[in-house]
Amino acid sequence: MTTAGVSTTERTIPLSVPVLQGNEWTYLKECLDTGWVSTVGPFVDRFEQEIAAYLGVSHAVATSSGTAALHIALKVAGVQEGDEVLVSDLTFIAPVNAIRYCGAHPVFIDADPNTWQMDVEKAARFLRDRCEPRRPRGDATEEYRNTKTGRRVRAILPVHILGLACDMQFIMERLAKQYHLRVVADAAEAMGVLYWHRHIAAWGHVVALSFNGNKIITAGGGGMVVMSNQPVTARYARFLTTQAKDDGPEYIHREVGYNYRLTNLQAAVGLAQLEQLEGFIQRKRSIAAFYEKALRDVSELTLMPTPAHTEPTFWLYTVLLKPGTSVPARQAFIERLRAQGIEARPLWHPIHRLPPYQDCEAFEIEHADDLYARAVSLPSSVNLSDADLQRCAAAVREALRP
Ligand SMILES: Cc1ncc(COP(=O)(O)O)c(C=O)c1O
Repeated sequence: MTTAGVSTTERTIPLSVPVLQGNEWTYLKECLDTGWVSTVGPFVDRFEQEIAAYLGVSHAVATSSGTAALHIALKVAGVQEGDEVLVSDLTFIAPVNAIRYCGAHPVFIDADPNTWQMDVEKAARFLRDRCEPRRPRGDATEEYRNTKTGRRVRAILPVHILGLACDMQFIMERLAKQYHLRVVADAAEAMGVLYWHRHIAAWGHVVALSFNGNKIITAGGGGMVVMSNQPVTARYARFLTTQAKDDGPEYIHREVGYNYRLTNLQAAVGLAQLEQLEGFIQRKRSIAAFYEKALRDVSELTLMPTPAHTEPTFWLYTVLLKPGTSVPARQAFIERLRAQGIEARPLWHPIHRLPPYQDCEAFEIEHADDLYARAVSLPSSVNLSDADLQRCAAAVREALRP
């Protein structure tokens, strides 16, 4: 029997669900048995230490969400009210909101049509053609100002989307050095991605991770600020996440802080997930290899790229419909998948088009809109069976039929 094309005996295959089959129960029980359920507890410390060891970074500060991690990362990187921050236009909105929380202004940079990540050459062009150096009085460090707004360009925030990687070598060696920029990277979707054989989350001055429910590992919710060789900055990050309270018994707060600390309960789940991460990465890669093989002869589709020097996780396997596809046509394709019991999603609206950010500067955006119109993410949970994947691939072919 079928309803709207879906066999009632076949379950809907979701886009991405967490798989909690390791030590999650055991560790959670330990929290409940010992009473360590809040923001202090052994799992928070262990989770931080093990994330730092896994990524090869020196400091990790756990936060209540990836968005909180981004906010703190920007603050400790020195982004201040009135500064500008170059940021990917094609991204989930959280990093842009975090720029706003600092009272700073995003400048949107287009996506590269080949890698779908921030177009670093365009970022370079913006800095070269639209900014000029100024030497602040009494300070030896030159800074760059946007010639149109007069504001200081303080940082660049590349977002590694979909389990791929931005060209961090170019960002660190060409942009950060030449234009004295702080690099705050968003690796929420890129935990486990390698770039030049190092974890992508180890690239940048300060990096944010997320452990929300759809990420490659989850803590139910949560995030982490990571960095290397900056003990003072890391301490400051921890201080800000805990209401900026001075050490000691009195409630002394010399600046405005935040209640952004991860709980022990969340860290318990996160740690159990981290123990399974390598297996999850292998499965994500084999899912990508499956889609690649199953769909490579479909001429209407462009498959997911692998940017240079990158070993992706393909966190959400995403394809592009043919050039010129309109947003309604892409939505109709997603509906045809849904009718076959396959959940699929578009990418995010380019942020410069959204009401809170329509007035912000958007530099030569051409490709973010096109990628947004054409991209469709397919089911990518690590517990998909090969039979599920075959169903997904067959549904894609069916949904493309004229
Ligand atoms: C690229 C990106 N940045 C930031 C976040 C925000 O993380 P959180 O939901 O943990 O606040 C997400 C996802 O949620 C994301 O995909």
